[in-house]
Amino acid sequence: MINMEKALHIVDQYKDLKGGLLECLHELQHIYGYIPKETIDITAEGFNISRAEVHGVISYYHDFRTKPHGKTVVRICQAEACQAMGSRALTNHVKEKLGLDMGETTEDLTLEPVYCFGNCALSPNMEINGKLHARVGQDDFDQLLMKEIES
Ligand code: FES
Repeated sequence: MINMEKALHIVDQYKDLKGGLLECLHELQHIYGYIPKETIDITAEGFNISRAEVHGVISYYHDFRTKPHGKTVVRICQAEACQAMGSRALTNHVKEKLGLDMGETTEDLTLEPVYCFGNCALSPNMEINGKLHARVGQDDFDQLLMKEIES
């Protein structure tokens, strides 16, 4: 169970600000690590919009998530430069290896898309638990994942 008092305070802080909904959702995610479903009702109420509208905003922006991350978080760049250097094949390999689709999370693993790490010259790029890896091939990924899981 999450601390609802904190969530109410955050909603209160942003509900009257222009563009406050995005700020509020970012803050909720910053505090809890994700946007807990219990906070969606109070967010909708606070901003005087429907729950569906709050869900709409959450699903529109790739950065928001409604579940806690798995222990290992894998993020792969899906933007143009990385695609031109094989990120699509890499993504398919990673999906198969992890048994997850993009955006899915289990207790152990999370797989997320990123739209440019700002490291395009060394494409394709991916991040494992916050560490950026450049020019990653399929075999590289297998080794990186092993190392990360064992550490
Ligand atoms: S396109 Fe992948 S890092 Fe920029």
